[in-house]
Amino acid sequence: MQKTIRIGDILRRQPVGETIEISGWVRTRRDSGGLSFLEINDGSCLANLQVIADDRLANYESEVKRLTTGCSLRVRGQLVASPAKGQAVEVQLEALTVIGWADPETYPLQKKRHSFEYLRSLAHLRSRTNALGAVARVRSALSFAVHRFFHEQGFLQVHTPVITTSDCEGAGEMFTVTALEPGQLQGTEPFAADFFGRRAGLTVSGQLQAEIFALSHGRVYTFGPTFRAEHSNTSRHLAEFWMVEPEMAFCDLAGNMEVAEAMIKSLMATALSDCAEDLELFEQFIAKGLLEKLAQVRDRPFVHLTYTEAIAVLEQSAREFAFPVQWGIDLQAEHERYLCEEVAKAPVIVTNYPKQIKPFYMRLDDDGRTVAAMDILVPGIGELVGGSQREERHELLAARMAAAGLDLAQYGWYLDLRRYGSVPHAGFGLGFERLVQFVTGMQNIRDVIGFPRTPGSAPC
Ligand code: 4AD
Ligand code: MG
Repeated sequence: MQKTIRIGDILRRQPVGETIEISGWVRTRRDSGGLSFLEINDGSCLANLQVIADDRLANYESEVKRLTTGCSLRVRGQLVASPAKGQAVEVQLEALTVIGWADPETYPLQKKRHSFEYLRSLAHLRSRTNALGAVARVRSALSFAVHRFFHEQGFLQVHTPVITTSDCEGAGEMFTVTALEPGQLQGTEPFAADFFGRRAGLTVSGQLQAEIFALSHGRVYTFGPTFRAEHSNTSRHLAEFWMVEPEMAFCDLAGNMEVAEAMIKSLMATALSDCAEDLELFEQFIAKGLLEKLAQVRDRPFVHLTYTEAIAVLEQSAREFAFPVQWGIDLQAEHERYLCEEVAKAPVIVTNYPKQIKPFYMRLDDDGRTVAAMDILVPGIGELVGGSQREERHELLAARMAAAGLDLAQYGWYLDLRRYGSVPHAGFGLGFERLVQFVTGMQNIRDVIGFPRTPGSAPC
């Protein structure tokens, strides 16, 4: 494989005097007195590398002077200390090869700043902009940090299925997967003749399958795409999103919260240390105070409240909520954000929600009214994590599944885990896009995933 030198690497090492070769895309060209100053970006870092072509290059008039934003090229030259302000080093070109032209009449990305809304209509080009390019790098760094965290903590990664026949959250938000034509879906059992012989769908969570491996391997996690046919057109909901889901045997709610808090703190530390240049961009142009917020989450303990305490705090607040507060309601984003932004000024872990508003698998508390649930709420976002200790007692679980209207015959395998060597176990799901939103300060979840899927929209 040919060794490619990346601009990020050059700017870090600054090997002045060396001849280097890089490939990338033109951001800008400026001409002055027989010289062309080109800003080149190759996606490896936010900064561009300035390269200088002079009229002694054979293709100076024929090609260099026709270069515009978006053209791709390969250049070779000597790295020198830059006499001008704005960059420490620059390249004096010895050769420049144009690889692909970009017609300036039609190329939609110009030097000026474009709105994120406009860029959403350019899913195939927007990753070449500063902000969306930075989001992609932060996203990749966080993804790697998730795997590293679990690896270091002795978790096994398991791959859970994308196509499944069990609706983990029981919320009826599963997309159906079928090989039948629309006209063939008829009768009382329309899926009996379908590919899997029963109704299958895209997973809403890998939890139930992760539980299987937790009960053989102890500490596991899955990190994959999940899908919800949820008609929530908000800045925090996607129909396809990625979820980080650890599952731990011999673990209770307290242990679960400990792992979640440690993971989030570790991810903040990685972002601050490995993505400093990109975070500086977000701090400056997207979310003032971002770096301090991330450092606080890294350094300060999270605040713990039971659901009942949280309701009391909300009831006593002077704030008028659009959605009225009373014991038994599901917390809305406005409540979640109030708790962490106004009350705690830190991430809040809310525990022990009423059993009516949580899924069947959560462990019933001794009071019979609440379950061993925990949601982690963060400023600016609301719910980042949802998790629980799981119901490990066979009788109680079967009763809750029946009450939730599940067909017990189809979930025999899930109940078996409670019949054979059942143990207390717990886990959680962290919405990866919400994490990237939190770390970058990006307002809309559609801008932290390359190809957002939302109601009415899946362009490429
Ligand atoms: O709270 P949720 O629904 O929990 C579960 O699915 C559990 N089975 C997870 C587990 O215990 N293994 O989802 C977990 C997280 C939420 O806290 C939120 O961050 C994110 O997933 N999430 C979404 N993110 C983007 N778009 C959506 N439509 C989301 N729905 C949930
Ligand atoms: Mg939830």
